[in-house]
Amino acid sequence: MIRIAGPRFGVWTPVYGTWGATTHPEDPFDASWERAKRLVLSAEKLGYDSTLIAQHIVNPYGHEFDILETWTAAAGLASLTSSIEIIAAIKPTLFHPVVLAKQALGIEEISGGRFSINVVNAWYKPELLQSGIPFAEHDERYIYGTEWLTIVRSLLSGEKTSFEGKYFHVDGIELNPKPKTRQRPAIYVGGESEPARDLAAGLGDVWFINGQPLENVERLIRSVAGRKREGVPVRFGLSAFVIARETEEEAQAELAKAWEYAKADQPLNEQLFGHADQKAVMFQTIAKYPAIGTNGGTAAGLVGSYDQVAERIAAFHEIGVELFMLQFQPLESELERFAREVFPRVRSLNPVAL
Ligand SMILES: Cc1cc2nc3c(=O)[nH]c(=O)nc-3n(C[C@H](O)[C@H](O)[C@H](O)COP(=O)(O)O)c2cc1C
Repeated sequence: MIRIAGPRFGVWTPVYGTWGATTHPEDPFDASWERAKRLVLSAEKLGYDSTLIAQHIVNPYGHEFDILETWTAAAGLASLTSSIEIIAAIKPTLFHPVVLAKQALGIEEISGGRFSINVVNAWYKPELLQSGIPFAEHDERYIYGTEWLTIVRSLLSGEKTSFEGKYFHVDGIELNPKPKTRQRPAIYVGGESEPARDLAAGLGDVWFINGQPLENVERLIRSVAGRKREGVPVRFGLSAFVIARETEEEAQAELAKAWEYAKADQPLNEQLFGHADQKAVMFQTIAKYPAIGTNGGTAAGLVGSYDQVAERIAAFHEIGVELFMLQFQPLESELERFAREVFPRVRSLNPVAL
């Protein structure tokens, strides 16, 4: 068994406006800052450890929908909260690495040392192409992202940084103030392809895995844990959509209802999948395991009675998953239910947790 902390729990900030159906009667679509603020403050109060703010500049379900801006929201949330980890996603191609590192250090200061970045190398083509930002071929995006993260990581660590690469030329720059309470903000990496795994092992602290069956997750963890790396071992996070009820039958009935609601979103999903990079491994996995939620969602199997869900979390934790980044619908009430019913059960299975 890999020795790890946790399990820790996080919630995806509702940047998309929903993590389930757009027409769910008890979860009206809402991608506003006010909702994100309420949700994350509530998560912090309930004992959640972390929140992940995904990054898109237009909503992949349809550009007529609102989508919350990631980095302004991260700064706002950092200022309003006091204990929860704030993870902001970043597509390297959107910001020069020196500018991004400066912004990250700013939010690190605002948060008092609770800020992390999640490096994501892009899959949704229109948001870049319509902006006039190049959408390079899949592996080339990772070459760019690796250079970018090399610079960002060095600057976040407070180092005077020089770099000569294919894409970037940085000449002896150093950023101040440096992190005050630790060496640097944490670096997460999301993406499932071989170059994404190399990036996580080479420059990341935590690799985010899309929700999928336990045996896949175990294989993926072995694949990344076995790669060349310097320093402490890489850690692992898992995305999952939870449906937990008193009994398994009730949870399965909720899942069936969720699939009914999902029917109305078929055209939105077609728009999203139709504009995704066909080489994105994440979408090949998602196509194999149809699910409610983004990034694998219910394919992680956290659907069942409260006891079953707690046992599955313990099983994922046993194979090395430290952080569970969760989605729910309706978001607010299910967030509360999970904390009330599942936190204590996980604690009783793993007394050092929570
Ligand atoms: C937990 C998690 C969160 C992600 N968040 C984002 C995001 O906010 N924005 C984005 O464009 N892609 C996001 N992605 C997608 C990946 O970064 C990557 O672009 C995608 O998986 C395609 O790359 P791949 O072929 O390496 O899988 C996320 C992936 C994971 C696993």
